[in-house]
Amino acid sequence: MRIDIITCLPKLLESPFGHSILQRAQDKGLVEVVVHDLRAYAVNKKKQLDDYAYGGGAGMVMLIEPIDKCISALKADRPYDEIIYMTPDGETFNQQVANELSLKGNLIILCGHYKGVDERVREHFITREISVGDYVLSGGELAAAVVSDAIIRLIPGVLSDETSALTDSFQDSLLAPPVYTRPVEYKGMTVPEVLLSGHEKKIEEWRFQKSLERTKKRRPDLLDD
Ligand code: ADE
Repeated sequence: MRIDIITCLPKLLESPFGHSILQRAQDKGLVEVVVHDLRAYAVNKKKQLDDYAYGGGAGMVMLIEPIDKCISALKADRPYDEIIYMTPDGETFNQQVANELSLKGNLIILCGHYKGVDERVREHFITREISVGDYVLSGGELAAAVVSDAIIRLIPGVLSDETSALTDSFQDSLLAPPVYTRPVEYKGMTVPEVLLSGHEKKIEEWRFQKSLERTKKRRPDLLDD
């Protein structure tokens, strides 16, 4: 899989992909993440990327031309399955959307800023609009990193134990059960006996019950379907 991220703040995306699971996924050749500086596609001498909104009002709007040039340059090299725009008024991102996107080949993610992009970009170039939640970030970069992370860890081979993504919270509409590690007792706080029993079936049942209890208590909405 390849993810091309278009941004006017490329520095913001230098770090998230350079560590741990996401770095290893790239080292193994399972995913390529390429960050593009939109300013390289600016069309005037001032390297302008935004302008005042027609009709007035506060806030700048991102220009269509640099975005068009950048997307066209990318599309000239390879086909893309989705061109995603990160925006608070997009569809809300969740595990199901992450699963779906992890099966795609090549993705472009466009990060918005200021008051957003010229509506014609959304109408003509974008195939999918995604929000990471009902709050407004300063720009789409951190949202793009969230979405990319959730997708990349689902690509087969990225996690060393392939089943571990399958036991994540939300994967089967349930929250994950509690987990424990050594020591067996810490300052009088103990690990549930069943986890020490070696009885696989009982452990599985216990985990399922705990998942169910936790979901009923914290996220009953997940059980509605
Ligand atoms: N850009 C600003 N806020 C955002 C959000 N909540 N989701 C996606 N992109 C955004």
